[in-house]
Amino acid sequence: MVHSMKISIVGGGYVGLVTGSCFAKLGHDVTIIDVDPVKVQSINNGQPPIYENGLEDLLKQNTGLRLRASTGYDSVAKAEIVFICVGTPPQPDGSANLSYIESASTSIGTGLKINPHYCVVVVKSTVPPGTTEKCVQPAVLRAAQKTEREIGFAMNPEFLREGRAVEDFLHPDRIVIGSNDPRAGKHVADVYRNIQAPVICTGLIAAEMIKYTSNAFLAAKISFSNEIGNICKHLGIDVYEVMKGVGLDQRIGPQFLNAGAGFGGSCFPKDVSALISLAEKIGDDPILLKSVIAINERQPYRMITLLLDKIGTLSGKRIAVLGLAFKDNTDDIRDSRSIPVIQELLDQSAHVAVYDPMAMPNMRRIFPALEYCACAADALREADGCLVMTEWPEFTRLDHEFDGMKKRIIIEGRRILSCKDRDGICW
Ligand code: UGA
Repeated sequence: MVHSMKISIVGGGYVGLVTGSCFAKLGHDVTIIDVDPVKVQSINNGQPPIYENGLEDLLKQNTGLRLRASTGYDSVAKAEIVFICVGTPPQPDGSANLSYIESASTSIGTGLKINPHYCVVVVKSTVPPGTTEKCVQPAVLRAAQKTEREIGFAMNPEFLREGRAVEDFLHPDRIVIGSNDPRAGKHVADVYRNIQAPVICTGLIAAEMIKYTSNAFLAAKISFSNEIGNICKHLGIDVYEVMKGVGLDQRIGPQFLNAGAGFGGSCFPKDVSALISLAEKIGDDPILLKSVIAINERQPYRMITLLLDKIGTLSGKRIAVLGLAFKDNTDDIRDSRSIPVIQELLDQSAHVAVYDPMAMPNMRRIFPALEYCACAADALREADGCLVMTEWPEFTRLDHEFDGMKKRIIIEGRRILSCKDRDGICW
């Protein structure tokens, strides 16, 4: 049995909520703090405010016992460890907006004023190197009127994939703990005692950089595969066969080599842009990172080019878009590659009929006037063309549904279909 620690988590978004629920499952006593009273109520009712595989079960099992949510910072006064899991959204120049980090730090410090225990404040949010030491630490200590002997600081990045976040939390490849103070680092390692994984102990600033570098490298793998895929397409080669032969080299590895319509989501585009902005601020020109983004921006339009090659003009044509989420198993559409594709279809006066198993309510907020369909077959009926934008497992089985189209013109932006007459974006 693990020694149960009192944990406060600031931020009830997908990182904070998954982290809190998993720590409660591991036997810790967890309070999630969020400014949004609706979210707090929903967590306290055992209902996750976002869809995440396995999360509802965890909330049902732990809410009211070892897990609760609050809009106030009272729990911080008794906490042994406080995690900061607030957003760091991009600013117009690509750099990370740290205002939520700053206000959370001040509120945590105020709460820690009357905390009699040694407590460690851990940054889990993705923050530019130097933030924990230069921004979080002074703000917390100032508000708490305490010293580093009473409050420790650490940076512990998350490597959770949406849709698989609970599994990633409980079975990580590694746990990275950055701290400039061994006592604080050990305190954080203790909270993960029940998880089997290599623990990397490093300095604060290195831990912050590990997070950006991991995401930038994964994004680079995807853009690299897409560039090779685009060349393969011209040469009539299947890029998936090529990458299978390439990925088995242990120095390369088979994962994240799936060419397609590019990467979306709340992390890769934002984190690579933040790293570019950081590099530029210190006088560097990060040409590789810039290309990673440039390839990704261009990639979705290749779907349109392929479609135009097959049907001439888009004006007045009915185009079915299957998949709106930035990937399968989520309702998240942030930076989804389907957004630029739909915008371009509309700009070229197409009639757009869409279907997604989960993400349609979210997409309605951006494009209220599309034809939202109850199933793939409805979207495909009488369609002049079809674009597959998300790797939903249910799309793998589609076949006779395409017979409802005027002609089976099917372009895959994700390698998912198994029927005939399909054409891939880069295969
Ligand atoms: C990503 C990372 O994978 C996590 O490790 C990280 O913790 C997280 O960002 C974060 O920083 O919070 P996530 O954005 O949830 O996780 O999604 P991924 O599964 O990594 O997929 C991102 C995008 O890349 C999707 O649009 C997906 O379709 C695309 N992708 C992925 C490809 O186009 N090809 C691939 O081979 C893999």
